[in-house]
Amino acid sequence: MFDLIVRNARCAGISNIAMDIAVKDGKIMAIEPSVDAKAAEEFDAEGFLVSSPFVDSHFHMDATLTYGRPRVNESGTLLEGIALWGELKPLLDKAEIKSRAHRLCRLAIARGNLAIRSHVDICDPDLVAVEALLEVVDEIAPYLDLQLVAFPQDGFLRDPNAKEQLIRALDMGVHVVGGIPHFERSMQDGSQSIVELCRLAADRGLMVDMHCDESDDPLSRHIEMLSQQTVHFGLEGRVTGSHLTSMHSMDNYYVSKLIPLMKEADIQVVANPLINITLQGRHDTYPKRRGMTRVKELVAAGLNVAFGHDCVMDPWYSLGSHDMLEVASMGLHVGQMTGQAEMREMFNAVTINGAKALGLDHFGLEIGKSADFVVLQARDEIEALRLSPTRIAVFRRGSKIASQPKQISTVTLGDEVSEVDYLI
Ligand code: FE2
Repeated sequence: MFDLIVRNARCAGISNIAMDIAVKDGKIMAIEPSVDAKAAEEFDAEGFLVSSPFVDSHFHMDATLTYGRPRVNESGTLLEGIALWGELKPLLDKAEIKSRAHRLCRLAIARGNLAIRSHVDICDPDLVAVEALLEVVDEIAPYLDLQLVAFPQDGFLRDPNAKEQLIRALDMGVHVVGGIPHFERSMQDGSQSIVELCRLAADRGLMVDMHCDESDDPLSRHIEMLSQQTVHFGLEGRVTGSHLTSMHSMDNYYVSKLIPLMKEADIQVVANPLINITLQGRHDTYPKRRGMTRVKELVAAGLNVAFGHDCVMDPWYSLGSHDMLEVASMGLHVGQMTGQAEMREMFNAVTINGAKALGLDHFGLEIGKSADFVVLQARDEIEALRLSPTRIAVFRRGSKIASQPKQISTVTLGDEVSEVDYLI
């Protein structure tokens, strides 16, 4: 007797033949063409796609949903966004940070996103956002895995208090060591920050996730140092390079040396397509650079590439609804990832690759893993990318925590009335 059986599920990454998924005690017990057993609850997936949940591998929960406070970003640029964040920070308090974070988590869950890695700015001496978001981590844990990165927005070395505050944030329970080497005063300081932060992570057994080379400058090469220090400290597979936009502009010969170094260190690559495409290349006239890292080359080299939303309605980005399929679609288009296997990899970039980058071993449509999955009104991953379809149901540990009616439009053309469900 199972707790739940999901019938007629086309399982992402497994088979395009409909299968049954059996669940007990919050875990997947069987994925078979036909499970001949009873369950306390059955759910008919009607041949639609069932996927491992979406994962947002890079987000800023402390800034999200502040659109219009104290004013909007009129120019839509990175510099006005930074100025706006400086104006906004003194207005934030713990209760309202928590309220926005909870609102975002509910939006995420409705979209089938059950894991978010959020950077949290530790440059506030009172660490109000750290305190607020650590409480949210615990409160939302039954439904969503929220992972926090101690992010020194004003520079680990450049801000005289950042070092002490970052360590304090880790002591309070923040999970991952952050950094921003390209924002330090010099290349040398950037390198020094990488050494110190990797040592800190190694000493504490933590993962690392740095905003790294978020710049159009082809000579911003901190990812080289990050890869080297990852190997030096034995942190292979546990270090994420976020953004890596300068790789877009680097010399091809240099990249031919760099990517094998990144591979040796098993660097987790996180691109943020919506933000990279809008914030980078702003100094260009034409040709205008796209500003996203080399997703195609990194995937081809066998690196794990995941995507983040980065921002939703905050000082840097006035748009977004935390739909990770919108992110994947943008990454697919910008990176020209239009091959069949490449498109599926773009779906993976917002699902299982994200889980790998975050170290969430319990995610995945596999026997023994947590019964966390989303039912989409599409028949395969490529159709899901095309339609960004309705999330018919979202399951966490075998319990349905979100649902939405299937989307069907009625079209009336004179006497002819037809129903359109967007599936071809
Ligand atoms: Fe970011």
